[in-house]
Amino acid sequence: MAASNVSSRARELRRQIAQHDRLYYEEAAPKITDREYDALLRELCDLEDAHPDLATPDSPTHRVAGKPLEGFSQVRHRAPMQSLDNTYSLEEADEFMARVERLLPGIKLRWTIEPKVDGVALSLTYRDGLLELAATRGDGSTGDDVTQNIRTIRSIPLRLEGDIPDLIEIRGEVYLPKKKFAALNEEREKEGNALFANPRNAAAGSLKLLDSSIVAKRGLSAVFYGLGAVEGGKATLAQSELLHWLRKIGLPVVPKFWEADDEAGVRQAIAALEKIRHDFDFETDGAVIKLDEFKRREQTGSTSKAPRWAMAFKYEAERARTQLKDITVQVGRTGTLTPVAELEPVPIAGSRVARATLHNEEEIARKDIRVGDWVFVEKAGEVIPAVVGVDTKARTGREKKFKMPEKCPSCGSKVFRDPELTAVRCINPDCPAQIRRRIEHYAARGAMDIEGLGEAMVDQLVTAGLVVALPDIYALNAENVSALERMGEKSTANLLTAIDDSKKQSLWRLLFGLGIMHVGASVARKLADKFHTLDKIAAASVEELESTEDVGAVVAKEIHDFFRLAHNRKLIETLRTRGLNFGERDERAAPASQELAGETWVITGTLSRPRDEFSELIRRHGGNVSGSVSKKTSYVLAGEEAGSKLEKAQSLGVPVVDEATLRGRLKP
Ligand code: IVH
Repeated sequence: MAASNVSSRARELRRQIAQHDRLYYEEAAPKITDREYDALLRELCDLEDAHPDLATPDSPTHRVAGKPLEGFSQVRHRAPMQSLDNTYSLEEADEFMARVERLLPGIKLRWTIEPKVDGVALSLTYRDGLLELAATRGDGSTGDDVTQNIRTIRSIPLRLEGDIPDLIEIRGEVYLPKKKFAALNEEREKEGNALFANPRNAAAGSLKLLDSSIVAKRGLSAVFYGLGAVEGGKATLAQSELLHWLRKIGLPVVPKFWEADDEAGVRQAIAALEKIRHDFDFETDGAVIKLDEFKRREQTGSTSKAPRWAMAFKYEAERARTQLKDITVQVGRTGTLTPVAELEPVPIAGSRVARATLHNEEEIARKDIRVGDWVFVEKAGEVIPAVVGVDTKARTGREKKFKMPEKCPSCGSKVFRDPELTAVRCINPDCPAQIRRRIEHYAARGAMDIEGLGEAMVDQLVTAGLVVALPDIYALNAENVSALERMGEKSTANLLTAIDDSKKQSLWRLLFGLGIMHVGASVARKLADKFHTLDKIAAASVEELESTEDVGAVVAKEIHDFFRLAHNRKLIETLRTRGLNFGERDERAAPASQELAGETWVITGTLSRPRDEFSELIRRHGGNVSGSVSKKTSYVLAGEEAGSKLEKAQSLGVPVVDEATLRGRLKP
């Protein structure tokens, strides 16, 4: 390549990498696979290696990951947090080991092989055995102080056991277990929030939350595999010992590792790990091969980016090839039309995949996906099926390009394009598909909690024409409900009672149930706490709404607009005539007592009733409820299996009480 071509290619690669970094780290919405990204980075590294004069100080090849966040304070790592060189080829893995052997001639080497945990890198600092700091990698030398959030992870001990050096940095990964990830996305979908692309992004997003009580609910986990700085004492001499030792002093470690003393042994370990890698509760996209003995590591040293003594071998993502039979269009609660790939079912990574979301029209055009195509399907983050590409060689010419319908597939009214959101929406408030979704959401456990009003029941009610809009559920009677399929006397009575009881639900549940875009349960609570009645929220200006915690300009405008649409006003007025609680009846608006006034409570552990109920009880008696224990906490209400919060309370001398004690104080 001519010099000018080389430099323009390098510039182009840097631009693309920066763009994908932004999509990945800041928007949590990657557009290319890890493999494609690695290929770009590799090409740039190779160009810079061959033409060192081209390497600019800001080249992504010098950087490890992301940039520091705002909102967290910055901390310097005592020892840098490096990255790893990686490869998809077993030959290159052999070459790596041969290279290390050349650096250490005549020495018998031992290797350890561990799963590469696809999480967020974390460094813990323990001083005198106590957890002092938890920090993200940041740029490798400076990261974010995420101690408050990390303290919510129960498996991370606040105090280490045994003979611990005066100061020690321990390195590992925070991750969101696969099951928790699936549940989180399901909940976000219900609340109308953007989904996380994979567990890694969900973990990164969770660590960025400024409210650690929300972090605690996410259920993060962590595993550890390495050391940073060690002062005033000795740790271990080799990786295999380190993993045992870390476990002994109380830290969770990678659940399995292998030892090998030559290339063949390493290959066997890589193959063994590949067989079981889907069984871990974290995602694993590779194996990390490490030189076992620490003193040998010192002899090989590091480059500016990565150690010479370790390398990551990455597995190919499991993908399947199948035929795209059709593209259907789903209508969501807010009217957004989403194209869905209807696939000839194929097994991938342990389950049968028959459908995959195609996100939007642009995505389909970008990948040039046509009905009838043979497509490649992968599981994004091993969980969500995604069409990653088309086998264009298999095209017959009979494939059909997809066009978003001009009319809503459910109600037939004209759809509108929202260019900002690359979304197409049906804005007919009476669209049956939207009504179904809206009622399902309204009745869901997290909202109005109407037992018996699930997907199947809603479907029957809407199909039978008994329910055309939300308030209609309050006009149902024994006669028309019992006429539905499988509705005996008892189930009819139960459903009607549950519907009637929902009229008394607190304001935040109603507000959340209304399904205003971006108003999830937690925002709904904050609005209810601030304004007390639905009428005050409906009348509030954008500025007033925006002054609520967690409500930004976009959300404030969305809420404001919602209450100004004629059909929503009508909906609210009809709900009022049905006798729903608009907040006047909330215990919060009419406190039961001031017994707990001025006190801040933290609730932890398993109690006899959901924690929500205890929060409401405390608030009703004038108290505040907070998510994390500090010196300002008045009391900790602890149930069974209370973990780190209990420990923190004890270490700060905050009084800990049980349910009976709390109730005792609230007796009239
Ligand atoms: S050892 C000097 N072991 O992968 C760096 N890293 O892509 C030593 N990772 O920066 C890292 N699992 O954040 C090591 N078993 C494992 C790992 C692991 C995941 C992460 C780590 C590293 C990144 C490189």
